Amino acid sequence: MNETIRQIFARKSVRVFLDKEISETDKGIIIEAAKQAPSGGNTQPYTIIDITDQKIKDELAILCDHQPFIAKGKMVLLFVADFQRYYDLYQYGDVELEYQPQESNLLMSIQDTAIAAQNSVVAAEALGIGSCYIGDIVENAERVRELFDIPPYAMPLSLLVFGYPTQQQKERVKPKRIDRKFNVFENKYHRLTKEELKELYLTGEDRSDEAFVEFARKQVTRKYHTDFGREMVRSIKVWLENWR
Ligand SMILES: Cc1cc2nc3c(=O)[nH]c(=O)nc-3n(C[C@H](O)[C@H](O)[C@H](O)COP(=O)(O)O)c2cc1C
Repeated sequence: MNETIRQIFARKSVRVFLDKEISETDKGIIIEAAKQAPSGGNTQPYTIIDITDQKIKDELAILCDHQPFIAKGKMVLLFVADFQRYYDLYQYGDVELEYQPQESNLLMSIQDTAIAAQNSVVAAEALGIGSCYIGDIVENAERVRELFDIPPYAMPLSLLVFGYPTQQQKERVKPKRIDRKFNVFENKYHRLTKEELKELYLTGEDRSDEAFVEFARKQVTRKYHTDFGREMVRSIKVWLENWR
């Protein structure tokens, strides 16, 4: 199999790291790889913050729903969806313009930022360095804004923690992907029927309606009726306030 394809297939999140530093050269390659990603009109509407201050890592480990491994990351990169640079350019360029950033700017920034982040993941993998995204970075907006001095038209999107995987992490089984019959379609979107959803999500013997309802309830409870779920909903509203 082609080596790039093999690595894309083999990559899995790594949450326990060896006590081995990432060299400055490799760090530079990973960051540059992120910057080589495509972006709409080559606008590159993101900013990458290389978090080297251990105190900040320690605080992030608490702020991001108490995930201690963040503090142990050998490299921690924050990818910020950033329209501030353009906003400021427009203000400096034409004081009459007063451009109000639109949802379209945010959406494009988010897309471009995520693509850049994933490029860094792929590059790290090629260097034998594991990584894990931390979605909880969108929580605690007020403190995160203060911690990194984030301006109004920028929003932290992807926090990535990197390090060399331990043997146990290398051997860990990669979580299965959804069968393509459920999420790859030709020409048209196919909305899954209840029966198809049952087939997708009920992996055990019990395919009853009761088991299905129980699964759906558990899913909602786990995702939204938790402190972190509620905090995420609240905090993202704060991040998006300036875009309304
Ligand atoms: C946007 C995003 C947010 C994530 N947030 C977390 C997180 O906060 N903590 C964590 O341990 N893993 C996190 N992950 C990792 C996922 O759990 C992981 O990618 C998924 O279970 C698939 O496993 P794999 O990456 O090993 O293939 C996140 C992944 C993505 C893409």
